[in-house]
This record gives sequence, C-alpha cells and structure tokens, in this order.
Amino acid sequence: MDKAQLIIDGKTLDLPIITGSENEKGIDVTQLRPTTNFITYDPSYGNTGSCISDITYINGEEGILRYRGYPIEQLADNSSFVEVIYLLLYGELPNKEEYDQFNKDLTYHTLIHEDMKRFFDGYPMNAHPMGVLASTVAALSTFYPARVDGDIELNIIRILAKVKTLAAFAYKKSIGQPLIYPKNDLGYEENFLHMMFAVPSEEFTIDPVMAEALRLLLILHADHEQNCSTSTVRMVGSSRANLFISIAAGIGALWGALHGGANQRVIEMLRMIHSDGDNYQKYIDLAKDKNSNFKLMGFGHRVYKNFDPRAKILKRSADTLLNKMGINDPLLNIAQELEKVALKDEFFVARNLYPNVDFYSGIIYRALGIPTKMFTVMFALGRLPGWIAQWKEMRNAEVPRIYRPRQIYTGATKRDFIPMKKR
Ligand code: ACO
Repeated sequence: MDKAQLIIDGKTLDLPIITGSENEKGIDVTQLRPTTNFITYDPSYGNTGSCISDITYINGEEGILRYRGYPIEQLADNSSFVEVIYLLLYGELPNKEEYDQFNKDLTYHTLIHEDMKRFFDGYPMNAHPMGVLASTVAALSTFYPARVDGDIELNIIRILAKVKTLAAFAYKKSIGQPLIYPKNDLGYEENFLHMMFAVPSEEFTIDPVMAEALRLLLILHADHEQNCSTSTVRMVGSSRANLFISIAAGIGALWGALHGGANQRVIEMLRMIHSDGDNYQKYIDLAKDKNSNFKLMGFGHRVYKNFDPRAKILKRSADTLLNKMGINDPLLNIAQELEKVALKDEFFVARNLYPNVDFYSGIIYRALGIPTKMFTVMFALGRLPGWIAQWKEMRNAEVPRIYRPRQIYTGATKRDFIPMKKR
C-alpha cells in the first residue's frame, strides 16, 4: 500500500503513504489544502507527524526508546553522557579521537562571560531556577551572535558547555552562596557536581556514586523525539531564530507541570501524601475524581501505553543508589506503594497509565542533595543535546519551511464596527 484515498466533496484524493525505517506509517496530507479547501484537525497533535526525523525512535505500545538506533537500556548501561551528546548530534558514536576532541571542546567553553555574572545579582533571592536558566540562556544570544553559518557549530559547543555552569550558578545564587567556577580537569558530570556543591576554602571530593547517578539521569533524559519542549524548539527555530533563543523557549515549555515540571510536582505530591499519613487510596481516588483537578503526577504519557522504559531503569536505580548511599527515604517507599496501588486500579489500567520518567527521578535527585526546585533544571540539562540535535535537523531539512499550523475559526462572522457611544 503506497497511498490512502480520501473521498471528500465527491472527489477521490490519493494521499501518499510515508513509511519509516521501523515501518511506522503516515499519511502525507501536504497536498490537501492546495487541492481542496480542507485542512486536518488534530488539536494537541496526537496524530500529527510534524517532521521526518533520524534521531530518536519510540514505540509506545512496546515501551521502546532508541537514540540513533541504540536501545536506551544499552546506552544507560555502557555509555558516557558525552558519548550520547555526540551520538545525538552527529548520528554515530564517536571513536576515541573524536571523543577526546569533543570532550576537550566541551570543557574549553564552560566559562561564561564575566559580564553575565552580574545578571545573577538581579534576580530575587527566591527566583525559580528554571526562570533564571531560561533567561540566561536567552541572554547568551547577546554575547555570542551567529553572524556566519560556521558560528552555529561553535554556538552548539558553547551552549552545551555553558548551560551546566548557568544551572549551577542559578542554584548557588538561590542559596546565597558564592558562585563556583568550572574546574576543567573534571569530566562533565563531575564538573557540574563541583560547581553545585563545592564551597570556597573547603576541600570538595566528588562521590563517584553521585557522578554515576547523574550520568544515568542525563542519558535517560537526552532526547524524546517530538515532545512539547522539542516541538517548541523546532517551532521557534523554524522562523530562523537563533539557537540560544530557541533553546530558551524549549526550557520554558519544559517548565510546565504536565511536562518536565512534573518531577518537582511528584516530590511535592509524595510529601503531601506522607504528611497525610501515607493514605495512598485517598489520592488515587482524588486522581480518579473528575471534579477534582488532582492528577497523579509522574503517571501517564501521551506516547507510552505500556510502560516508560526510562521509568523502569530509574526505579531499579533509585533502589540501588539509595542502598549504596545508605539513605532510607520514606518517599521512595511511598512512591513504590503508590505505584502498586495505581497499577491494580481499574481506572489506571483502563487508561494505560504507568509511571513516567518523572516518577522516580526526583527520588534520585533528592538522594544527590539536589533541591526540589532544581529538578526541572536537571531535566533541561539532560534534554539539551536532544533539543540541539532536533533544531539542527530541522534547519538542515530538505524543505526547512517555517512551522505554521492552521485553525478552524469559530468566532463571530463579519460584523460592522459600532462606535463607543452606541455600545
Ligand atoms: N492522573 C490521573 N488521571 C490521568 C493522569 C494522571 N496522571 N494522566 C492521564 N489521566 C487520565 C485523563 O484524565 C484521561 O481520562 P479520561 O479519558 O477519562 O478523560 C485519560 O487518562 C487520558 O489522559 P490525557 O490527559 O488525554 O492524556 P494526554 O496524553 O493528553 O496527557 C500527560 C499525557 C500530560 C502526561 C498526562 O498523563 C498527565 O497530565 N500526567 C501527569 C503529569 C506528568 O507526569 N507529566 C510528565 C509527562 S512525561 C514528560 O513530559 C517528561
């Protein structure tokens, strides 16, 4: 089958079928509007393919996630985060030489312009670090404008290197501690932990267990095809807006509670349940009640209808990590019990609602000593390479058209203006 037929207004239209490398099928409707007066209607884009992409494959029914063909489980077990960044950006795993050069580039650009440090003095003490991150990433565009095409590649390295510095500065600012500069003999994860947790005049040693947990979290968040924030990055970039501002927009989209912001909300919810006597059933019932606005945060996914492979990996790691660190977090027990109750409940079963990546990530961030308000920033740090790879792919597409959905207008039909005194 290479075409679908649409009968509309008495006319039969042949619509080509596009087939992906994993045999995913799509109906190409690009000629619908030029040949008829119809558009497709798909609010929230549940059935709309906005692009053709070579980067990430998800099969939501079978719980599969692969970056450039490599299963997430294998990358989680074997790869470094820097390797995953390279893979997402350039399509292949780096050899030793490529890796060393890339790692060196990412290290060389970690400092931010000294003038930018003053930005951090301007935010209120309790500023949410996601707001700080989005605005400082946007501000990078004023320091590093792309004047020629070659600047884009350099700016990709710059943003990858600098965002972790900005994230750590945002945290230090929020607790009133002096900013800690990057230490460039450290690896990616270690350098970030150093900027987050070191204090001047005190020796700081990096716990390898913490660095390992961070590596895993960053890899699991690195890309997730056309989700809300990634589509935002592509949408903004499609107008030929620069990389920094496109990524800043993605950070904004990620912040929302239904997307990356859910990791903060999960911990707040678990705390609430704990302080309410661990009454899981009460909150399950509340989540099922159509008259309440309450949702089980960290549950459900637009694409995964079986399980989220990232959540599976994180559930295991949360257990192992907390054991290794000798931490007994009551919130982990609550999360595990809540999951058990929800997975047996008819409401959740019927709707295929399973824990998503955000359900267990917060427990691990807590164990690492990362405060709740920073959780979504950690997600952004992980997702950054995915956003950039998708932005690049969109810009290099064969027909890089500006994104521009249509609508069905249901407002007033034409009417004449009424002067104020007659209204
Ligand atoms: N708790 C209770 N009910 C839920 C939940 C939940 N967490 N998620 C979905 N449902 C219900 C909906 O009310 C709906 O019920 P209905 O059919 O009776 O109306 C049904 O399940 C289908 O849900 P939709 O909202 O249509 O699913 P959608 O694909 O639009 O939303 C989303 C997916 C946003 C993730 C949703 O499940 C949700 O809000 N989850 C909680 C927030 C969260 O964890 N977000 C992180 C997602 S992962 C990520 O972005 C990294």
